[in-house]
Amino acid sequence: MIVVCAASGRIGSTVIRRMQKTLAPSDFIAGVRDPGAFTALKDRDIELRRTDYDDPGSLRESFDGAERVLFIPSFADTERRKAQGLNVIDAASACGVKQLVFIGITDTRPDSPLPFAHAYGAIEIALAESSLEWTVLRTSMYTDNLQEQYPLWLERRELVTCAGDGRIAYVSRDDIAASAVGVLTSPVGLHAKRIYVLTGPEALSYDEVGALISELFDTAIEVKHVSVEEFTDALRQIWGLAYEGAAHVVKVTPLFQRVFKEGMMGEVTDHVEQLSGRPPEDVRTWLQRHPRKAV
Ligand SMILES: NC(=O)c1ccc[n+]([C@@H]2O[C@H](COP(=O)([O-])OP(=O)(O)OC[C@H]3O[C@@H](n4cnc5c(N)ncnc54)[C@H](OP(=O)(O)O)[C@@H]3O)[C@@H](O)[C@H]2O)c1
Repeated sequence: MIVVCAASGRIGSTVIRRMQKTLAPSDFIAGVRDPGAFTALKDRDIELRRTDYDDPGSLRESFDGAERVLFIPSFADTERRKAQGLNVIDAASACGVKQLVFIGITDTRPDSPLPFAHAYGAIEIALAESSLEWTVLRTSMYTDNLQEQYPLWLERRELVTCAGDGRIAYVSRDDIAASAVGVLTSPVGLHAKRIYVLTGPEALSYDEVGALISELFDTAIEVKHVSVEEFTDALRQIWGLAYEGAAHVVKVTPLFQRVFKEGMMGEVTDHVEQLSGRPPEDVRTWLQRHPRKAV
């Protein structure tokens, strides 16, 4: 039996949808923070278990009898995200879970500019030191993020970046979910103690992303390469008053740009195809399949 944690989230719910197609309802459990508030699987024959990363007792109850667990981290701040990961590892170990599959990120360097990279690195180390059969699925930047970004680029007719010619191997949430299901439905030993890097089929620079969006939406976008300071100022101007999470965006986005510039999300692998059995979707096809969002 498989427990899918964070089943209410975008990756978790995609994993559940995929499992509904190929597994019996008794083969998997949707782990959610608040089963009472979670109505998406109402009237389905799928067991829900309270699975709160901040509550070790709930994790032990949730993982009771589970052979495998999929851990999709939350968006908590760095120290809490790390503590949540350690809680999951402890509970899985205490419950005799055979395999813990962890959705991580490509940049786990201790000196990464991304604060939460340290949390993911620490969780990977704890997994390696545990007695679990673990599998890490490090993920590149999500293709889905572009759907939030390009409408603004089109509206302003410009894409401002300080990532230089750094490349990004965008991967979709759907391909991540398909890869996770591939691992969770293979013999445990096949992917034990392995780190995979989930990427799309290509790595694009912002010049290439801008050209692609210009072509797909028949609107010329100018790609402007600026300094970190100018980039941060531009973010402040765009998001300053418009959005309650603006301070976070202004703080974190330049750090991601640095990571792109350093090439930490530019590696392309064939791991999605290895694990899911199908090639990952490229950015063009993904964007053509998904509707344009309002700014
Ligand atoms: N590389 C990238 O481009 C990128 C982009 C986005 C996300 N990510 C990473 O992907 C992961 C999440 O992905 P997502 O897209 O599925 O996010 P999401 O749709 O926002 O879902 C987050 C999930 O975490 C759950 N959660 C929050 N706090 C929890 C807790 N204390 N205990 C248990 N579950 C908790 C939420 O449950 P509730 O419904 O109860 O709130 C929700 O199911 C994060 O690790 C994030 O860093 C990476």
